[in-house]
Amino acid sequence: MTSCILLTGGAGFIGSHTHIALTAAGHKVVILDDFSNAQHSVPARLEQITGQPVTVIDADVRDADALAKVFATHTIDAVVHFAARKAVGESMAVPLDYFDVNINGLITLLRAMDRAGCRRLVFSSSATVYGVPDEAPTPETAPFRAMNPYGQTKITGEQMLGWLQASNPEWAVGVLRYFNPAGAHGSALIGEDPRDIPNNLMPYVAKVALGQLPRVMVFGNDYDTPDGTGVRDYIHVEDLARGHVLSLEKLLSTGQGHVVNLGTGRGYSVLEVIAAYQRASNRDLPHVITDRRPGDVPIYVARADKAAEVLGFRTEKGLDEMCASLWKWVSNMADGA
Ligand code: UFG
Repeated sequence: MTSCILLTGGAGFIGSHTHIALTAAGHKVVILDDFSNAQHSVPARLEQITGQPVTVIDADVRDADALAKVFATHTIDAVVHFAARKAVGESMAVPLDYFDVNINGLITLLRAMDRAGCRRLVFSSSATVYGVPDEAPTPETAPFRAMNPYGQTKITGEQMLGWLQASNPEWAVGVLRYFNPAGAHGSALIGEDPRDIPNNLMPYVAKVALGQLPRVMVFGNDYDTPDGTGVRDYIHVEDLARGHVLSLEKLLSTGQGHVVNLGTGRGYSVLEVIAAYQRASNRDLPHVITDRRPGDVPIYVARADKAAEVLGFRTEKGLDEMCASLWKWVSNMADGA
């Protein structure tokens, strides 16, 4: 069945990949994005990839009038809510901005949806809700532990959505806890914006391979992990995008909400990522061990069986494909694409 899906933040990294996956699955998509963390070239690139016109509304998710207009103009069956701030360190510097965009933005969206009678939502959550988890792989039943304002906004968002569903069973929410999204679209036309100095490992490594940064800083090699460096569950952004399609289709067909991890269930250390990227790029990747980064968690790995059971979701792409697609994307951008 064809549905019309609103993607807030649909021009961003995960949103744009989800647009492609939803369009391929036969759904209509409307993007709402203020381009505060997305490139203006993305809609044209999405048209190039999908071969279909892209509908974009340039607006902030906290803009109630803009949202009311979207729901008045389009018959939206469900919403995927990506629009949010997401940098852990920055959230400690400007917590009120995080509360405003991530919490007020969510409430503004929910009010607009409620008024329009659209009560199907997929919510972008994060493994960060687990804080420092007691067990790895980490199941969805692990307790919430906020480590920073960003993590708190995801916990608060999840809790509000839980109460909303409890208060009115017409609401059905798919909460997706992402582990570490990585890679880029196979076309090399869409990927994570590589313009700034990245905080995250994968885009940082990509810049070192391109010669735009001198070396990778490995934040600590004295963790209780096989090689002492931090372990993460990297998930290809195209797999992650497919998880959203499955979540939406489940919500629309059953009217039942769910909370699932989206990860591969397999972790890789910082040194393993560097080695994989070296293979993909065929470049030397100088790296140096430095102090631990404050607030870092030793291991984040998903228990992935619930997403498989509830959504039929299984990842298809491994670390080498993440590195190869990222290398293709950043090389393409560096060539002026
Ligand atoms: N790391 C380095 N050097 C770098 C950057 C990172 O050694 O230059 C290490 C980190 O210490 C960590 C690993 O690489 O061990 C991954 O770090 P990232 O910054 O790429 O990702 P995080 O796991 O810290 O955070 C990401 C998102 C968060 C999200 C979290 C959930 O940025 O928003 O995943 O897993 F909450």
